[in-house]
Amino acid sequence: MDVIHSVAELRARLYNERQVALVPTMGNLHDGHIDLIQLAKPRAACLVASIFVNRLQFGPHEDFERYPRTLAADCERLAQAGCNVVFAPDEQEVYPEPQEYTVDPSGIQNLLEGAFRPGHFRGVATVVLKLFNMVQPQIAIFGKKDYQQYLVLREMVKQLALPIEIIPAETVRAPDGLALSSRNMYLSPLERVEAIALYHHINTIREALQSGRRDFAALESQAVDALNARGWKTDYVAIRRQSDLMQPDAHAHALVVLAAARLGNTRLIDNLEVDLS
Ligand code: PAF
Repeated sequence: MDVIHSVAELRARLYNERQVALVPTMGNLHDGHIDLIQLAKPRAACLVASIFVNRLQFGPHEDFERYPRTLAADCERLAQAGCNVVFAPDEQEVYPEPQEYTVDPSGIQNLLEGAFRPGHFRGVATVVLKLFNMVQPQIAIFGKKDYQQYLVLREMVKQLALPIEIIPAETVRAPDGLALSSRNMYLSPLERVEAIALYHHINTIREALQSGRRDFAALESQAVDALNARGWKTDYVAIRRQSDLMQPDAHAHALVVLAAARLGNTRLIDNLEVDLS
């Protein structure tokens, strides 16, 4: 496995590759990332994982500085998983000058995560477009754990006519249901036990929808109240259409229940798709 830090070296390494898959990450890899690698592996002759903690997608009071940088351990896991190239540029390589040209996703960037993290999806879309231009993959894999991010990037590829197939990957969960996330490592042992409440509440909503309930607002606010009563600070629990995250009507079939809430100093997100057809 080659570990490459510069765009020039990356281009030289990939020059003769015809079928490249990219798994973009910010490192601190867990089993969920390895799952993305496994999904990509049979689809491409050359598998590239990028590792870059992208300042542009963090708000001023978010965890950019303390986000764990674990390149050596990440490379070990990626080599074991059969990755061919790790692209780990530094900030100067990705942003050699202030990034004045950015990608502004459509209205979807102002909903849900975007409403609580202004500018986040601009930062994500901008760095992913740059990574696409640097790596020039035919395929890119994104986890549905970051559901809104996946939709933003799928739409970016469509609207900008990028010749890249976006493949979504299912969320990987711990045995108790907690969605794997690099941020789970911030949780204290007690918080880790409590953390599954987020999954339980969106799963309760999924079951209610499956049993025929359509009182979306009541289901959402019951979950928010229940989480807050347990000591969480809930940003949102929302039942939305899978296609565009807009509010569904009572006849919508493809729904997704999304939630974001803070437990102590850790902000967790999760979602579950519900197909009612
Ligand atoms: O999902 C992530 O880890 C990041 O948002 C991504 C897609 C690598 C862009 O920095």
